[in-house]
Amino acid sequence: MSDKNKSLKNSAALGHIKFGGYDPETTQNIELIERRNKHFAGSMLFYHDPVHIVRGEGARLYDDKGRCYVDCYNNVQSMGHANPSIARAIADQSTVLNTHTRYLHENVIELAEEVAKTLPGDLEVCLFVCTGTEACELAMRIARVVTGNSGAVVMEGSYHGNSKLVGEMSTATYPKEKRPPYIQAVEPPNTYRGSFLEGEGDDEQLGQRYADLVDPAIEALEGNGEGLAAFVCDTIFDSQGALDAPGDYFTRVYEKVHAAGGLCIADEVQAGVCRTGTFWGFEQYDVVPDIVFTGKPFGGGYPVAAVFTTRAIADEWARSDIYFNTFGGNPVAAAAARAVIHYAKEHNILEHVSSVGEYLVSHLRQLAQKHEVIGHIQGRGLFVGVDLVRDRKTREPAAELARLIPDAMKAEGVLIGLTGPNGNCLKFRPPLVFTEEDVDITLAAFDKVLAELEYR
Ligand SMILES: Cc1ncc(COP(=O)(O)O)c(C=O)c1O
Repeated sequence: MSDKNKSLKNSAALGHIKFGGYDPETTQNIELIERRNKHFAGSMLFYHDPVHIVRGEGARLYDDKGRCYVDCYNNVQSMGHANPSIARAIADQSTVLNTHTRYLHENVIELAEEVAKTLPGDLEVCLFVCTGTEACELAMRIARVVTGNSGAVVMEGSYHGNSKLVGEMSTATYPKEKRPPYIQAVEPPNTYRGSFLEGEGDDEQLGQRYADLVDPAIEALEGNGEGLAAFVCDTIFDSQGALDAPGDYFTRVYEKVHAAGGLCIADEVQAGVCRTGTFWGFEQYDVVPDIVFTGKPFGGGYPVAAVFTTRAIADEWARSDIYFNTFGGNPVAAAAARAVIHYAKEHNILEHVSSVGEYLVSHLRQLAQKHEVIGHIQGRGLFVGVDLVRDRKTREPAAELARLIPDAMKAEGVLIGLTGPNGNCLKFRPPLVFTEEDVDITLAAFDKVLAELEYR
């Protein structure tokens, strides 16, 4: 093996390749990988034989050799890859004007008006930024100013972004021993493999039991002098495997958080903009957060993110803080986000997500009758997690088998990823324009791959 290839193998061993290392002898795009590795640091590539995607359309992606893949992974271009109406809105505005938000411009005002109509209660104030990380950071900053406290209650195994503060709120990304005192993490409400399980006789108590886990976290923050500024939760629990929280879980947690003087922040970077079959993920649970933030799907591929809150909270915060974001909500960003909202409305994306999501789950259930390794199907709308097990009785995670699935599915023409703390949940999170035909192709590939891998 050449020195060059040896170093490629080493970088794979360092974890730069998400689904394991790749073999330089068989990797097709070795020249591109070498050029990339020369100038990139610590960046991950999916698949043992990384794929070179050159074009997208709807829920399909095409590689440099013209091979078509069904996309079961991407949530940013959620109204479809290269969506013509979103691309046109971005192009049209780019040829006229793109500046910061310190001049008056209709686009950003109309975006604020339109998005406010999708939000319940008094959530009508918008702050525009560029990424989910910035949005989470700003939401937390607002909560800290308004409450006078600094602590956050988050989920174990959470991901909210990559700045210093938001990285610390992302408990999935660093060891527990390094957790700062202002971060308290609670067990997510996983009723399939958590502390309290569905089907053990007291299902109506599950919401309460998981919600009660928040009490010691709040007490710890009160005891160590940080106090509770906010409870922050991704409402689809992406990094925990895409969970269905028990019906009253959020209501009960929100009551506790408010009683302790904290604010409730919904991370809608994954669940927002129609993903779960309601415009916002928190609507699935009949709660109204104090602060909501979104990103990824909001601009359909253009980097635009936002924080939404009430006039009372926004004014209280603005009395003692000042915030400016150069690119946030610029006229092109606003045109992109408006085009996403318009597309979703004009094409009844909410109804589409609900019906294709149901189709996906019902066909996954049929596959579960055939494949013992399918332990549990969870999630909402078009965000579905399949928890794979070695044994349905013990529920031991089938992590080794799961690790083989993304590569094997790719070979069958389907791009898909894994999630969950055990790395054993297959994540179905396609662009929202996914069709029943896409489901059929995906599940035929899944069926074939499981038949090949399951009993090896
Ligand atoms: C739930 C959640 N919140 C926040 C973020 C951070 O968004 P960004 O990568 O745009 O900073 C992510 C990104 O994956 C996410 O999944």
